[in-house]
Amino acid sequence: MSAAAARGPVPRFPSGFLWGVSTSAHQIEGAADEREPSVWDAFAAGPGRIKDGSTADVACDHYHRHREDVALLARLGVDAYRFSISWPRVNSPGGLGFYDRLVDELCAAGVRPVPTLYHWDLPLSVQEAGGWLHRDTAGRFAEYVAVVAERLGDRVSKWITLNEPAEHTLLGHALGTHAPGGRLLFDALPAAHHQLLAHGLAVRALHAAGAGDIGIANSHGPTWPASQEAADVAAADFYDVLLNRLFAEPVLLGRYPEGIGELLPGDVEADLKVIAEPVDWYGINYYAPTRVGAPHGEEIEFGGVTMPAELPFSVREIEGRPVTDSGWPVVPEALTELLTGFRDRYGDRLPPVVITENGCAYEGVDDQERIAYLDGHLRALHRALEAGVDVRGYFVWSLLDNFEWAEGYARRFGLVHIDHGTLERTPKASYGWLREVLRAQR
Ligand code: NOJ
Repeated sequence: MSAAAARGPVPRFPSGFLWGVSTSAHQIEGAADEREPSVWDAFAAGPGRIKDGSTADVACDHYHRHREDVALLARLGVDAYRFSISWPRVNSPGGLGFYDRLVDELCAAGVRPVPTLYHWDLPLSVQEAGGWLHRDTAGRFAEYVAVVAERLGDRVSKWITLNEPAEHTLLGHALGTHAPGGRLLFDALPAAHHQLLAHGLAVRALHAAGAGDIGIANSHGPTWPASQEAADVAAADFYDVLLNRLFAEPVLLGRYPEGIGELLPGDVEADLKVIAEPVDWYGINYYAPTRVGAPHGEEIEFGGVTMPAELPFSVREIEGRPVTDSGWPVVPEALTELLTGFRDRYGDRLPPVVITENGCAYEGVDDQERIAYLDGHLRALHRALEAGVDVRGYFVWSLLDNFEWAEGYARRFGLVHIDHGTLERTPKASYGWLREVLRAQR
């Protein structure tokens, strides 16, 4: 018996549940010479920033091969496709026309377009004017959103404002392993606040353009203390505040966790009113839980990231679990814990949830580990539904192997293999598996 047969069928999800896959512009589009530069182009050009020395200049060349990719989506049988719109491309001649055609092709193929308006590729010109450390960037973002909504709003009926402002703040502005490369530690907090403000202004701009069904894609995961010692519990709590609550509470409750608001610039109370503009659903990107303990007092490497000694916590291994090629532990039941925890913490302030990303990096086309990962996470998601959490959709990260930021092309998250020499697309075993799962859900 095959491993999949031994596990038995994936449980049945409610009718109307939205099944999809996700990508982002910078990670797949390529055609970098047909748009303005972004912070990621500038960052990747620096020595030693991207592990395999690559850039996203070509990536999956989706910009020129989008028809083939839409056909892959249609054959997979997903309801929806989450992709991102590149602000630098929209700023460039013909850029909006590309998304116009993509949206048309998706609609013609019966796949619902779900664009993310910002997935980390800030125009370099906006960075040079101060980037996310500067309040004006939030206003500029809302102007760009209005332009996009005006052009695509007649066919797009579900929107995502931002992707993972937490990682963009931590890796891009505090630790410097992502673009734009800031190493500001706690002085990076204004970048979080201005992104959240940009989210709220974008919700307003979308509403003004007549658009609805708006969400945000925030990354979240349970934080487990390394032990029950007070120092470990306090460090884990602090990490939870920084990576989870700092981004959920302003959106859902209209306030920052205690002690954070004082560290932020401007009239924070007034901004919180904008940030808390109601969303129709809440997107969660989930990969793994994090074990956190008291600081080691020295610099350590974790998951490819150098954690400076000054941080008031340290990230520890989760032992006894298989790990993906990214080194992330596979802990499906932590997804149930995360979702029931959100429901308990936020109650009726939590709108319906959509899992906007979940997936794993593994080599190979016969990717049985990916099938096991996705199967386990779908069962864990179903348990959250049974426990009464209102989850309305699930998107796999990712359709294609792509440019995994500082890891370059060395981490393969796709359901479809990309030969980065020929750009040939080859559906993996997981693509066939998901197709059957989706067929059985109809
Ligand atoms: C989160 C990000 O949104 C996405 O861009 C990235 O590739 C995946 N996680 C995997 O790391």
